[in-house]
Amino acid sequence: MDEKERRHAGALMRVNHVGEVCAQALYTAQAAVARDPVLRAQFLEAAHEETDHLAWTRQRLDELGDRPSLLNPLWYAGAFGLGLVAGRLGDPLSLGFVAETERQVEAHLDSHLDRLPRPDSASRAVVEQMKLDEARHAAQAVDAGATELPPPVKALMRLASRVMTTVAHRI
Ligand SMILES: [Fe+2]
Ligand SMILES: [Fe+2]
Repeated sequence: MDEKERRHAGALMRVNHVGEVCAQALYTAQAAVARDPVLRAQFLEAAHEETDHLAWTRQRLDELGDRPSLLNPLWYAGAFGLGLVAGRLGDPLSLGFVAETERQVEAHLDSHLDRLPRPDSASRAVVEQMKLDEARHAAQAVDAGATELPPPVKALMRLASRVMTTVAHRI
């Protein structure tokens, strides 16, 4: 990869690393307030899988000579608060929030498979595996009884993630 490609890949992987920081926060918060103990265990297991994603994206950032987002503490705090709110709405809506989040992340990762520089097969491999895992997390949430969120809420979530990805691309 040339310098421009490497920087581009670094920016995309920084965005993905932020996404995984948020996933940690969301699942941990939602586990903390889940009513059903089985569901709590499921959230904690998903959080554990997201730890792998966090490590892979961080490692890839290091290999690309790039750095994580400087705003990570802020992303974590914001996502944790959002997870608490979603969790307090009750298990079916909390699961609905998970399902929709994971679907949006899956679509986002899919777009990165197009945007990542062609020669960057290492980042591509990470993104492909995460995409499979996120799709499974969405399916598990649906199986566990997720309520479908109203379209305006989904649109709001897309807007929030667009702000996050745009900022994290640079900072
Ligand atoms: Fe993930
Ligand atoms: Fe996930």
